[in-house]
Amino acid sequence: MGEEQRECVTGAGGYLASWVVKSLLLEGYVVHGTVRDPSNFSELVLERIFACYFPKLASFEFVLFSGDNKNAHLMKLEKASENLKLFKTDLLDYEGLCAAIDGCVGVFHIASPVPLRGSVINLQELMQPAITGTKNVLNACLKAKVKKVVVVSSTGAVVLNPNWPKDRSMDEECWSDLESCNAIQNWYCVAKTIAEREALEYVKRGELNIVTVCPSIIIGPLLQSTMNSSSLYFLKFLRDGCQSADNGVRAFVDVRDAAAAILLVYDKAEAEGRYILSSHEIGTQDLVKKLKSFYPNYNYPQSFNEVETKMNVSSVKLQNLGWKYRPLEETLVDAVNNYEETGALFITSSLEPRKSSIGRSHQVTSVKTCHVIAKSYT
Ligand SMILES: NC(=O)c1ccc[n+]([C@@H]2O[C@H](COP(=O)([O-])OP(=O)(O)OC[C@H]3O[C@@H](n4cnc5c(N)ncnc54)[C@H](OP(=O)(O)O)[C@@H]3O)[C@@H](O)[C@H]2O)c1
Repeated sequence: MGEEQRECVTGAGGYLASWVVKSLLLEGYVVHGTVRDPSNFSELVLERIFACYFPKLASFEFVLFSGDNKNAHLMKLEKASENLKLFKTDLLDYEGLCAAIDGCVGVFHIASPVPLRGSVINLQELMQPAITGTKNVLNACLKAKVKKVVVVSSTGAVVLNPNWPKDRSMDEECWSDLESCNAIQNWYCVAKTIAEREALEYVKRGELNIVTVCPSIIIGPLLQSTMNSSSLYFLKFLRDGCQSADNGVRAFVDVRDAAAAILLVYDKAEAEGRYILSSHEIGTQDLVKKLKSFYPNYNYPQSFNEVETKMNVSSVKLQNLGWKYRPLEETLVDAVNNYEETGALFITSSLEPRKSSIGRSHQVTSVKTCHVIAKSYT
């Protein structure tokens, strides 16, 4: 690797992408990071402070000026001042993407809207950046003659497949079935499945060297000052104190192990196709039990309802490439310690519905309209 080798990371300020940027900088790469708004003030930092000092006011809408930039953490990373260059662009801005990707040897396409579970979504704001945005990134890669691309997909593009044999782990051959995703209105899975399939078409046509990775729920410490969807989901177990929670089994991966996997598939010339990226499967009750053993005093769910949710995904292909992951206990402890240090535990639930990374307009789209929009992408 030459010292001046340039790599582009889309959505550089996001949860996973920030760890990828950090690792690339430490490995000596020059990083071009795309961000939507370099001057975006971090509402959530303000809200944490507000929730902490003025808890009764925390659910009110307010706008304050903190002086903290949403992507400020990026420029504080080691070697960032010399080797990190931020480009302001949206996934729907092809020219902006071309400017960011020009001169890069590799591209890590990580940006994509990740809605909060249960939040109201605007389907166009989800589908367009995920699908058209991925095509824009890949077309910009073609134009810049990029040597290798890693596209971050999701186990959401894997697991919604009712026809997969029940007694077989879901591996890279398993794809989410779009009709099934549509039927349960899981538009995120629709978007990720279509985007990943489209990406792999570029490989079939011999146009680009692309590897895709499909992470399960990503948890672990945050580098950024804003909360992302999967961290908020995990945080709920610690502080919502609900009477009962469902005891579904879910798959998790540490954000640092996910970033390491992304760099691994990039570095390994033999990496090809898609890779499931998941390390631990655990039921909510057992997860809470583990958390309680380290942190007995949080506001955990009181009881658990048995549900059918099961996960059985296999990362054997990735492990055969050399990927290793840390114990779940380490992830849990590092995550909670990080939340305690940064104040993330003070975020109030009442703030969450408007925290969706795609929920800026809070526009309610009817289910019927969602089906029509989703169909137009299939
Ligand atoms: N977290 C998980 O559990 C999980 C699991 C499986 C797969 N993934 C995938 O991993 C990737 C990163 O997720 P994350 O958890 O790190 O989410 P995140 O922190 O919300 O980051 C998403 C990033 O995408 C950017 N983005 C969204 N819409 C965009 C648009 N129209 N144009 C440009 N950038 C846009 C966001 O930019 P702004 O900062 O400007 O909003 C943000 O930087 C996504 O592709 C996601 O689907 C995540």
